[in-house]
Amino acid sequence: MPSFGAVIGQDLGEACRLLIAGKLVAIPTETVYGLGGHGFDEKALTRIFEAKNRPTFDPLILHVGSMEQVATFVSQWPPLLLRLAKQFWPGPLTVLLPRTVLVPDLVTAGLPAVAVRMPDHPLTLALLRRLPFPVAAPSANPFGYISPTEAAHVAQQLGHAVSYILDGGPCRVGVESTIVGLDEWGNPAVVRLGGISWEELEPLCPGLRMASATDRPRAPGELPSHYAPRTPFTLMKPGQEFPKDPDGGYIYFAAPEASLPRPRVFALSPGGEIEVAARELYRVLRAADLCGAKRLYGQMAPEKGLGRAINDRLRRAAGLGAKG
Ligand code: TXA
Ligand code: MG
Repeated sequence: MPSFGAVIGQDLGEACRLLIAGKLVAIPTETVYGLGGHGFDEKALTRIFEAKNRPTFDPLILHVGSMEQVATFVSQWPPLLLRLAKQFWPGPLTVLLPRTVLVPDLVTAGLPAVAVRMPDHPLTLALLRRLPFPVAAPSANPFGYISPTEAAHVAQQLGHAVSYILDGGPCRVGVESTIVGLDEWGNPAVVRLGGISWEELEPLCPGLRMASATDRPRAPGELPSHYAPRTPFTLMKPGQEFPKDPDGGYIYFAAPEASLPRPRVFALSPGGEIEVAARELYRVLRAADLCGAKRLYGQMAPEKGLGRAINDRLRRAAGLGAKG
């Protein structure tokens, strides 16, 4: 695929200069690659939405390199969310905090809360700590398509739109951050499950629940078709066998490498480890999408730990929405 000459490298100075100038830089994180821009610069923010072809009602996450930086643009730290940030940052957790006027409306789609996270990747942390502003970064994929977990994925799809791709290698976690906010009564609700599992969060969050369809705001990652391959994708029910489709491509949750008749059969984790499956999920979905199959079929992960986030993404990839 063409990369449109996007420059890929590890030059932090160059990445800093470009971000300060309002240009877009793809940044590695432990979850997925982000399409980064100056978080307080309306022109840079507009470029992000245009590059992704993303509707502006879908708000952005601000990425920070320190807790002190957060205090410069939020009006308060609700104690529970502060505890969660102290526990899981740097890491795959995003918290929704009341913003000040410093945060442009474009970042939050006009909502009173801003999404904030400190990613756990050495290159990007070093970058963020050099900058006097937070970096707004959605996943670096065209809107609705599969998220990128390698620099090459970004080059293939958004290479024409970014000035620089900071190459931090393959992403360690592989699914996006978990997003937690407080509802109008101050109770914690999970807006999106991701790299921090329900089991890790719940002991710290009495009364934790999943945000429901009636909660506002909803995360547009909530749209039923998201993270989706272009090839029609069917998700099998637990225990259901794959159909015998001669034009099909098959994604097992677990299958030993040697047992896979190439080329249109894939496994998220040959040994059945959930962390490995999460790390491989988007790379495998991409490979399957490009393998020449007319239809794709996939198996679900066990519904525990990161398996819940994997299944959420698989359901959306199949156009089923969160609970389908
Ligand atoms: O792991 C991640 O979170 C990656 C990396 C790059 O940090 N970023 C990411 O961004 O997944 P994005 O834009 O693809 O997904 C962020 C989700 C969106 O579904 C958005 O609607 C939700 O976060 N979100 C952002 N700001 C919000 C807000 N103020 N209230 C509710 N949801 C918000
Ligand atoms: Mg995304």
